[in-house]
Amino acid sequence: MQTINQLDALRHHISALRVAKGRVALVPTMGALHDGHMALVAAARRHADAVVVSIFVNPAQFGAHEDLDAYPRTMERDAELLRAAGVDILWAPPAHIVYPPGFATQLHVDGPSNGYCGAARPGHFDGVALVVAKLFNQVQPDVAFFGEKDFQQLAVIRQMARDLDFALEILGVPIVRDADGLALSSRNAYLTANERAAALALPIALGQAAAKIRAGDDVARTLAAAKADILAAGFARVDYVALADAVTLEELHMFDGRPARLLAAAKIGKTRLIDNLAI
Ligand code: PAF
Repeated sequence: MQTINQLDALRHHISALRVAKGRVALVPTMGALHDGHMALVAAARRHADAVVVSIFVNPAQFGAHEDLDAYPRTMERDAELLRAAGVDILWAPPAHIVYPPGFATQLHVDGPSNGYCGAARPGHFDGVALVVAKLFNQVQPDVAFFGEKDFQQLAVIRQMARDLDFALEILGVPIVRDADGLALSSRNAYLTANERAAALALPIALGQAAAKIRAGDDVARTLAAAKADILAAGFARVDYVALADAVTLEELHMFDGRPARLLAAAKIGKTRLIDNLAI
């Protein structure tokens, strides 16, 4: 595996890789890799001939009140994991390569960015769309992989790639969960032992709500009960528990059989967790 931090070197190595191996996959990450990320890498290896993983903690997707400096950075360990997983290139650009002095472009993806985490974290998806568009241009992959855990992010990226004519395939990879059902997240590392135990209420509430909605129960009543259960388990705040169209993320007030997703975000202690489930 080659670790690259300069754009001209990246372009040179990717051209060579494309000739030597073929189809190139990109797995964008912010590092602090866990089994969820490694599932993206494994999917990339199955679907492509060469795999590029990017690690860049993107300042543009952190709000003013969110602690960019506290985001876990574990580059050496991450590089070891990626090397062992057979990754070809680790693209780890410094911030001034991604956002050079004088950088002035912004990107806003309407539609799927609105509501849910977009409401709770204003500007977050603008920053995600911007950096992912830049990574697509830098790496020029044939296919890119994103986790379904960040379901709204995946919908925003699909919309952005469609709107801007990026000629690549975007594949979502199912959520990886701990044995007890909690979705893996870099943020789980912030949970105390008590919070970790209580956090399980989130996937349990979603599972129960999904079963009720599939069985035809009233959506509003079911979502309200899920919120109450999450709060009763010790969460400090529920940002949303919602039923959404799986493609547009339009909020649904009844289940009409189209592909839909239950989406939730809630704060426990100082940590905000998200989760979702297909209906
Ligand atoms: O999901 C993430 O880790 C980030 O939002 C992404 C897609 C790498 C963009 O910074």
